[in-house]
This record gives sequence, structure tokens and C-alpha cells, in this order.
Amino acid sequence: MSLVALLVLAASLAWPASSQGLPVLVPVTKDPATSLYTLPFHSGANLVVDITGPLVWSTCQPGHLPAKFPCTFPTCRLANAYPVPGCHEPGCEQERRKDGTCTAYTYNPVTGVCASGSLDHTRFVANTTDGSNPVRQVNVRAVAACAPETLLASLPRSSTGVAGLAGSGLALPAQVASAQKVANKFLLCLRLGEGNGVAIFGGGPLQLTAQPGVDYTQELVYTPLVAKHGNPAHYVSVESIAVEGARVPVPARALATGGVVLSSIKAH
Ligand SMILES: *[C@@H]1O[C@H](CO)[C@@H](O)[C@H](O)[C@H]1NC(C)=O
Repeated sequence: MSLVALLVLAASLAWPASSQGLPVLVPVTKDPATSLYTLPFHSGANLVVDITGPLVWSTCQPGHLPAKFPCTFPTCRLANAYPVPGCHEPGCEQERRKDGTCTAYTYNPVTGVCASGSLDHTRFVANTTDGSNPVRQVNVRAVAACAPETLLASLPRSSTGVAGLAGSGLALPAQVASAQKVANKFLLCLRLGEGNGVAIFGGGPLQLTAQPGVDYTQELVYTPLVAKHGNPAHYVSVESIAVEGARVPVPARALATGGVVLSSIKAH
């Protein structure tokens, strides 16, 4: 197995550990045309993995019934907790005058385009895992924002939206944690070459086929995440960057930002 990049991110434990369920696992695939990573959502559709994304968004079924989330619902507040710079102001002041339903601002991390949409109930199909084998396939309840099809520009053909994995209440890890009663943690393994990587939501243990009986999460070196006010993305503090022992020349000031953002999307 050539795991090229492995990130273990631990967000805060927002749910009690009682009646704990099993973590869920999905394959993560690299789209060769766009170099973006996708995970399966449901009904054959994929979502682009965006570690910095605060929401899950997708094009909704034609004729879906919106208006399930009044502006006053906590879910609406969570959806608008982190306004994207350049998108509309958060909240649903404009909609309130019309029909009082929640508006969320969906954002395409490749093009930088955003669009407004309603919230909808959906499901995320994944396998529970005991750390070495899949146990059973489950439908995880989730809330996604509905985006217009035009927002899919520059995303892989098979994808219908974006799975945000930031530390916000409506990002996928928090939603899986709430629905499955697992820890609000995820593990993401992205492969640069052929073959699938993996995303596990809910924590370890994790056993690799090459090393049965060893919990891989105990073998890792950990670094604390740095929180930035008003931004749910995951940051780490970086002093220098080396690839295979060779130091990459980076201007010192580039790293002295109080935290470097972790991103799953290649900058263009
Ligand atoms: C769940 O596991 C089964 C059997 O390994 C597999 O066929 C199916 O594609 C998996 N589902 C997901 C969503 O990964």
C-alpha cells in the first residue's frame, strides 16, 4: 500500500460518548481529469472532498420541496455561521420577508463562485467499520444545501456537489457524529496515484491489511490543530517544509501566519 498523504484531524468532541455507534468508512477516489478527490454520497453521485468547506452541498432533486427549515431553526444558524468572503451576507433576512425559509450560501472551492440555495434533508451512504472490515452499509441522515447545477463548473463529471469537512456544525464530520453517535473526528487518506484512499468518520481504531492486529492510529505522530476565530478550516503551525528530507525553500513570512491551512484542493 502506498499511502501518500495521511491526515488525522480531531475536532472537538461535541457529542457524549454514551451509546457510541461505529465509525463509518467510504472510499476516496482521485479524479484524474481535475485532480480533485471525491467520496460517494448516495445513488451513485459523488461529492468533492473539501477539508476547508463548512457545508455539504449538492444539486437537489428536481421538484424537491424546500421550506423545511425556517430561519429561526438552529440548523439555519449553523448553515450561516461562517460566511464565505465574497458571497452574500449570511442569514436569511431577504428570505424572511418572502417565505421565512433558510438560505445557505454554497461555494465552489475551485472556481470561487457561490450561489444561494435552500437546505434539504438527505442521506450519506457509508459502511460502518470495526477498524479492519466493513460491518454493514448505513444511511446516515444529513442536511445539505441545494445548489444550482451551474455551481458544478470545474468539478468532476460524476460529482453533484461538495462535502465540506471543516470544523463547523453542518460539515460532514459533525453530521455523521450526530447521526451515528460517534466522535466528531475524521481520518482522511488521499492517494496521489492509482487506487482508492479512504475517509473514516468517527475515529479509530484502524488496522491496515499489511499490519494486522496493530491500531494504526496509535502509530501516528500527532500535531495540534490551530483554531482561527471566525474560520472553521483546520490549521496547523508549521516551521518548515521538507520532502523526503530535503528542505523546500519557503519565505519565512509565508509560514509565520499563526497557522497554515490544510487543503484538499490543489491551488491553480
Ligand atoms: C460497503 O461495502 C460493500 C461490501 O464491501 C461494498 O460493496 C459497498 O460499495 C460499500 N459501500 C460504500 C458506500 O462504500
